[in-house]
Amino acid sequence: MALDFEKLIAHLKAQGFIFQGSEIYGGLANSWDYGPLGAELKYKLKNQWWNFFVRRNKYNIGIDTSIILNTNVWKASGHLGNFNDPLIDCKNCKSRFRADKLIEEKFPNVNAGTFSNEELENYIKKNNIKCPKCNEITFTNIRQFDLMFKTFQGPIEDDTAKVYLRPETAQGIFVQYKNTQRSLRKKLPFGVGQIGKSFRNEITPGNFIFRTREFEQMELEFFFSPNDKYNWFDHWLNEVNEFLMNELKINKNNYVIREHDKDELSHYSNKTVDIEYNFPFGRGELWGIAHRSNFDLSQHQKFSGEDLSYLDPETNEKYIPNVIEPSVGVERLMLALLCDVFYEEKINENDTRTILKLPIKLAPFLVAVLPLQKKQSSFSINLFENLLKNFDATYDETGNIGKRYRRQDAIGTPFCITVDFDTELDNSVTIRDRDTMNQDRVAIKDINLYLYNKINN
Ligand code: GAP
Repeated sequence: MALDFEKLIAHLKAQGFIFQGSEIYGGLANSWDYGPLGAELKYKLKNQWWNFFVRRNKYNIGIDTSIILNTNVWKASGHLGNFNDPLIDCKNCKSRFRADKLIEEKFPNVNAGTFSNEELENYIKKNNIKCPKCNEITFTNIRQFDLMFKTFQGPIEDDTAKVYLRPETAQGIFVQYKNTQRSLRKKLPFGVGQIGKSFRNEITPGNFIFRTREFEQMELEFFFSPNDKYNWFDHWLNEVNEFLMNELKINKNNYVIREHDKDELSHYSNKTVDIEYNFPFGRGELWGIAHRSNFDLSQHQKFSGEDLSYLDPETNEKYIPNVIEPSVGVERLMLALLCDVFYEEKINENDTRTILKLPIKLAPFLVAVLPLQKKQSSFSINLFENLLKNFDATYDETGNIGKRYRRQDAIGTPFCITVDFDTELDNSVTIRDRDTMNQDRVAIKDINLYLYNKINN
């Protein structure tokens, strides 16, 4: 059954995952805040990525660079020249659109991203494309719209103080390439990963947390010799695929791998493959894997005057390394994951349950302690506090047990421990599995082992 997107959004709000930003002031368009469970899920998702791509990868290391960088970085990277979108306004209703998207929505087979501004304007006129909001055909000329957020550093707001918030985390890695490589005496091939906020003044943000102006990226820049004949592009594409399938358990029928046409490529890339997820609003880019050649390091060498070449200890040859970049947005990945695990399951004629079948390692809580009756409270609180020493645990004693199971299903808690009448007699509890709803009787002394086995299976 098709996923009801509005229902998912309402569910995530009600359960404390995602709230509208600045809601009590009427909100701020397309900004979202992560509630207690959303923050936890986001933290675990980042941790999972960091473990897989940085901490437990034999080639890679991590870094954490600034959001505001020297403006010359953006000149060198091409963002100050190329990072803008063709904007068009409806003169009648004042709605604003990206001209290429306006065309592609009407004519899905046209790749308007490759058109010049003149070609876009002509195409809109020739095909009588109407404003999707008011149906009039009265558009302004196209203006290029700079996607980078600007601000000023220091008290004087003039051009010399103008700085930009980074639109990608990648450039921080390139700018610190030499320090990173030297400090850890890294030999090629090696990768540098980073997780952090990026900002883009998107013209058409939307689809919930899919496209926002403030978001987090998880990027890996993998450096290798131009003489290295191993197919690092496919290597990282396979790693991304493995991460999605085995770590996040995303259903592989829900995404496709699509290579960009030559005329679709970004200014820095000579090959890009996107992993596109079937979101409820349509298929959209989830993860991009780009071959950036030696574009960025060469540009930074040229603009900074620093020698960024690598002296190959084996061949004594000097060269600027090539780069493969897998790049994904934290929130976009979280949205794909949530769409994947959101189920409404019919239990019997009168009962359904809403369930988030999150992987065990990502669920905000691993385990909930539920006393069957109030009189088991102090014993149960004691058990809960002991579990907290090793696991992400929660406690709930309000409402009937059925309701409490549903509450935990709704937030994705994989295990519920019920303390019942027999617990104090046989020193055992019942542990219920979220997905199968099967129950095991487990001795209290074995609970930790039971949970560790589940986590590691
Ligand atoms: N460093 C390369 C780069 O930034 P990109 O395709 O522009 O490439 C990479 O972005 C990933 O970042 C995307 O695949 C997407 O997951 C995420 N992303 C980009 N723009 C976003 C936005 N406005 N909101 C949320 N996520 C975004």
